[in-house]
Parts: sequence; C-alpha cells; structure tokens
Amino acid sequence: MNKFDYYNPTRILFGKDRLGELDKVVPANARVLIIYGGGSVKKYGTLSKVQESLGDRVVFEFGGVEPNPRFETLMKAVAIAKEEAVDFLLAVGGGSVLDGTKFVAIASKYEGEDAAELLKYGFAGPPVEEALPIGTVLTLPATGSEMNSGAVISYEKAKWPILHPLTFPQFSFLDPELTMTLPKAQVANGIVDAFIHVVEQYVTVPVDARFVDRTAEGILQTLIEVGPKTLADPDNYAARANMMWCATMALNGLIATGVPQDWTTHMIGHELTAMFGIDHGKTLAIIQPAVWKVRKEMKRAKLLQYAERVWGITEGSEDQRIDQGIERTTAFFEELGVATHLQSYGISASQIDAIVSQLEKHGMTALSESHDVTLEVSREILLQAM
Ligand code: NZQ
Ligand code: ZN
Repeated sequence: MNKFDYYNPTRILFGKDRLGELDKVVPANARVLIIYGGGSVKKYGTLSKVQESLGDRVVFEFGGVEPNPRFETLMKAVAIAKEEAVDFLLAVGGGSVLDGTKFVAIASKYEGEDAAELLKYGFAGPPVEEALPIGTVLTLPATGSEMNSGAVISYEKAKWPILHPLTFPQFSFLDPELTMTLPKAQVANGIVDAFIHVVEQYVTVPVDARFVDRTAEGILQTLIEVGPKTLADPDNYAARANMMWCATMALNGLIATGVPQDWTTHMIGHELTAMFGIDHGKTLAIIQPAVWKVRKEMKRAKLLQYAERVWGITEGSEDQRIDQGIERTTAFFEELGVATHLQSYGISASQIDAIVSQLEKHGMTALSESHDVTLEVSREILLQAM
C-alpha cells in the first residue's frame, strides 16, 4: 500500500424525511444563501421544505445554476453573497449545484481582481485561506460532491477542476426519496459516473491494498445489482438508498487511500462535455472501455482481477478474460441506456484532432497513474472509442 493522508470532515444525514433537521445543523443566526439549479427543487417541493426548516433565519436565494455550472452564472451568486453579507451557503440540487456552491464559497472571500484566477490551480487547489461554510441537500446521486472537496467549473469552453479542503461541505442530507423524481437518463448518468469513479481508483496497478480493493469491488457489484433496479422501478426505496450511498462512497476519498489513481477517462471526458455538450456520465461510458483496450498491458493485473472479482469471469486465457470484462462493462452501460461510442453522439473521426488540441491547450499531456498517456495515446483512445 502507498502512503496516504485521509481527511473527511463532512457529516452525512442519510434517510427519508430528515430535512426538518436542517434547523439543527445550520447555525442559528446564519444569513443563508440557498443555491439551486434550473427549478427541479421548486417543482418537486424540496425548496419549500428547506425554507420551512430554516425558520426565522435571514434567507436569500439564487436559482439558475446550469448543468456544468458556468463561472459567469456563479459570479452572480457571489455578488449576492457579498452584498448581503451572507455567512452560510446551502446547496440544494445535483452535482452541478454543489460544485457551483463550492466555487461561490471560495470566490465570495476572494479579494483579487479576477475570480477566474481561482480556476487555474487544478488539483493543487487555489492559494486561499478563507471560504464560506457550505451545507448541501443532494438530489442526484452521481458525483460524490456531497462528501468531497472537489468541483468542476465551466469557463471559456473548458471544464476546470478545483480542489480545496475548505470546500468540503460541513454536512450533506442524503434522502433517497428526493432522487425518485429524476429522469431516467440522469439516473443512468449517475450510475455510470459513480462506477467510473471507482474504476479510476481501482483499475490501475496492484499495490496490495486489500481493504480498498475489496471495498471498490463491493461498490461496483452493488451498482451492478441496484442500478438497473432503480431504472426499472423508480420508487424502489432500497435500490435508491443503496445507489445513493454507493455514489457518495465512490468519491469521498476512502477508496483512494493507499492506491494509485488514473483520471484519464475523466480528463478526456471533460473535453467532450466542453466541446459537444455531452452529459458528464455519458462521456465516461464512451472513453473508459477504450482506455482499457489501449492500456491493456499496463493494467493487465488489475483488469484480470476486475474481470474475476466483479464479473465472475474465470474461464479462458488472460486476454479472453480481460476482453470479456471490458465487454460486460460496455454491455452494462448500454443496458442502462448509455451509448458507448463517439459515433452514437454524432462525432466523427475527423473531429479527433480538435479534441486532442483541446487536451493540449489544457495541459492534459501526461495523464494516468504513470503519466504516460501522452497526446498520441489520447488520440489512440479516442480512435478506439469511435
Ligand atoms: O437544474 P435542475 O432543475 O435542478 O435539474 C437538474 C439538471 O437538469 C436535474 N435534477 C437534479 N436532481 C433532480 C433533477 N431532476 C429531477 N429530480 C431531481 N431530484 O438533473 C440535471 C443534471 O444535474 P447535474 O447537477 O448537472 O448532474 P450531476 O449531479 O451529474 O452533476 C454533473 C456535474 O458534476 C461534475 C461534472 O463535471 C458536472 O459538471 N462533477 C463533479 C465532481 C465532484 N465535485 O467531485 C466529480 C465528477 O466526476 C464530475 O466531474
Ligand atoms: Zn465523474
């Protein structure tokens, strides 16, 4: 096992009908800014429950955070936070709303001239020492944003990852019933996103991290079991609950402990979202199988372990088992209704150069756990994903 630091301060309040407890966890005298998305939380009554629970606190609202939250939109929320001396942010929505709120938390305390500067530090995180505290009410299980310190912000036709310990939510409400109103496509995106978060921390190289490997395998097997059930039977509480906790555990740092990580699929996927507007989860379903085909030698041991322990594949030569593991994964995504080829999204081989140029522009020239996914390898992956 590799050495690691593990830190996660987020309190989780899991289960149905708990929004009344917001009153206990939001500071009594807080001036709260509620941040939400395009209106689903209004339509389904979540926002009014949140407002009710906040009682007499001074509450402001900012709606309109779009999927793949945009810097310009978020700066409007920053203006309200500053003008109204807001001292607590409450995100109510999916990953985009939570991510956007994290950016607002940092930008509201930033004194530099151009808050876009905050986006340029990537995984190292911006050099800030203050942020507004955040709480969240999650309505879409997928990103893990409810229990991590990451966010992805869209700015100038690119997606900018931003990471800072001050943006861990203080608390997150996870009510599986709130996810029952999700359109099927979003549920499927969420299953794929959580699945890929796990494999990007698991299908790398072996480091004898037994607990973490088995935890990763447990999350994957649970997603394979409950994912299709949540689609077939949207009101199945047990399936929703398991799905929700899996998505959180997939990216809250636990299964990153002591193991290498390979975020190639996410980084190439981000370019596909920025250029073509393809949903985050769908970009991952396109790229991940192609990464495994191109990087088969490098990942051989873990691909074999994945095929055997996650899919129960024990027959055939090593290559056959690996190939079957990849095929089963692709079939799983397709069965969820998520297409796994670039062509299915109207993208042709002639556009690959442009995607590679964007990777270069954003410094994505040495991806993976071993930093040897060069632009040429990314090109091969994209060709494989056609
Ligand atoms: O905006 P509203 O009206 O709320 O509708 C949303 C949105 O249209 C809708 N929705 C959410 N909850 C709903 C609902 N509709 C009905 N019922 C509900 N209960 O779903 C749509 C998509 O929402 P969005 O928040 O964009 O989806 P998701 O949670 O998949 O978030 C995607 C964003 O997260 C980033 C992605 O890059 C993308 O920008 N990621 C963040 C990560 C992190 N912070 O750690 C990691 C991920 O890898 C990912 O990159
Ligand atoms: Zn993701």
